[in-house]
Amino acid sequence: TAVDKFVNELPRPTEIRPQGSTPIKLPARPTHIWMGLRDKKGKRLMTQTWGFEYAGRIHSPGPTIRAREGQPVFVHWANELPGPHLFPIDRSIHLADVKNHKAVPIVIHLHGGHTEWKSDGNPLAWYTGNYSETGPLFEKKIYEYDNSQDAATLWYHDHTLGMTRLNVYAGLFGFYLVGDENEDRLIQEKLLPSEERTRVVAITDSLFSSDGQLYFPGWRDQPSSPVSHEVVEANWPNPSHLDEFFGNFMLVNGMAWPKVSATPQVYRLRLLNASDTRTLILRIEENISFVQVGGDGGFLDRPVQLDELVLAPAERADILVDFTAYEGRKLTLHNFGPDIPFKGFVQASDPKNSLPLIYNPDGKHVLSDGRGGTTPTTNPNTTGQILQFHIAQNAAKPSPVKSVLADENTIGDLKLTLDTPLRPPLNRLRKASHTRQLATYRLDDPYGRNLLMLGPVKEGSLFYEDPTTEIIQHNAVEIWEIYNPTVSAHPIHIHLVEFQVLDRQPFKGKLISKPQQFMHTNKTFQGARLEVESLLGKPLPPRPEERGPKDTVIALPGQVTRVIARFDREGLYVWHCHLLSHEDYDMMRPFEVSAPKL
Ligand code: C2O
Ligand code: CU
Repeated sequence: TAVDKFVNELPRPTEIRPQGSTPIKLPARPTHIWMGLRDKKGKRLMTQTWGFEYAGRIHSPGPTIRAREGQPVFVHWANELPGPHLFPIDRSIHLADVKNHKAVPIVIHLHGGHTEWKSDGNPLAWYTGNYSETGPLFEKKIYEYDNSQDAATLWYHDHTLGMTRLNVYAGLFGFYLVGDENEDRLIQEKLLPSEERTRVVAITDSLFSSDGQLYFPGWRDQPSSPVSHEVVEANWPNPSHLDEFFGNFMLVNGMAWPKVSATPQVYRLRLLNASDTRTLILRIEENISFVQVGGDGGFLDRPVQLDELVLAPAERADILVDFTAYEGRKLTLHNFGPDIPFKGFVQASDPKNSLPLIYNPDGKHVLSDGRGGTTPTTNPNTTGQILQFHIAQNAAKPSPVKSVLADENTIGDLKLTLDTPLRPPLNRLRKASHTRQLATYRLDDPYGRNLLMLGPVKEGSLFYEDPTTEIIQHNAVEIWEIYNPTVSAHPIHIHLVEFQVLDRQPFKGKLISKPQQFMHTNKTFQGARLEVESLLGKPLPPRPEERGPKDTVIALPGQVTRVIARFDREGLYVWHCHLLSHEDYDMMRPFEVSAPKL
């Protein structure tokens, strides 16, 4: 398979601007799209994917929904997928247990949405075509998003129990941009680029078979994967869930290594990492710096200048890149996030640092292998590249030749400076009525596979299906401390809320085995409980770009990550690791917000 690189323009998803309260119907349907691949003769290879139909066309990834703060949007996410699934299904894990194995269950979650629970796309609210079969928490067909939140880059994606990684990989995701008056003002006052100079950028990694079809390793019944998996056990279920996924093609909005044609002006990129396991570490060629103005839940208080951006799966970053000094140039967006689960950074000055994995607040990052060493990065010709900016000559007027923040600290042709407030300062939550100690666990299941779990520190590892342990008073402000005694980072996502990252702190502790029942079977296995012995050093403040409203946070190994949030809607929600292969088995837990007291 050949591929055009930096030749095809970045696809711009169709935008939907909902008006009024008529539901928009977005049926999930199969389609074929061109992802930039060619056969030996140079003919385009079409790839089978799933997408959402809108205005007579099937869009994959899905269309971008542009919502407005305070204006409700109703969506009917119909399931018109004929099945069978495009990828192998492991039925030994806890999953949407459809009776008709040919049918494909789906359920759509608005990630980052302040959504009533019945519209939240709970993993147990799945449904097959025509609602022939539905999950135990299925409640309604038409979802209501009331958009009671500030302007932000949200995204929607499938959330089916035990199959999320497969349904999202097949293409069931898209952007959902909330707009508000503050954002309008920033654009009007030329503090932010206009919509013509704004791009949504969803980055994923994929594997392809030689005929150009998406490939997801299901272990034994598949041709061997380009990514090697060391552990191959004879008694594994087949097909089998694998606890990580890395592709060797980088796609943006469904196109392999696209180009972005730009004028020598400032561009706004609304980035999303929609991949399964890969944490992206993004830099622009020549270490050109850029400015981050927003994160998961909206604008930062003030812009932050960066030359490297770390984006874990499901995280978003709203960045400005200034091309005014690069007329006629081609600039590649590079990735240094390797083909292994992210383990954090060690301080470059102290590579033997036995304190695990601290973000180096200043200076260059050195990737850690979790044992005090450093790891090789990506293949510079494949996963080391994302896209390329092609900046036009400005024929009309001579170039002002200005680099980021050169003159008067303004950013290119914008009036924005690093001191310009982007929003009224975020109301920092301080006092919590409850602090929860939670932990991540990596265990061996009865087949000898990796099993990822969550649970309160006291109880230890729990399955998603175990009884709810997080029951929260309506409107309570809580601190969640997430201890990560595993060897890699987990991007932890909490539904419903926008939280604030308080800090991170290394800790010492030990894992104590506890015999545990294996889901609802009569098998047992060794679960674990964390005993925290001590906290080390001072709490480390979040990175400046993590100081805005967040819904996904990187829980670094060997550290406790603390977040604070107000839980202001009643209902049944979930929190989980957003490495999709972890989430599916079985790194997810329910939480419940009780009804308001009258
Ligand atoms: Cu983006 Cu619960 O998911
Ligand atoms: Cu994880």
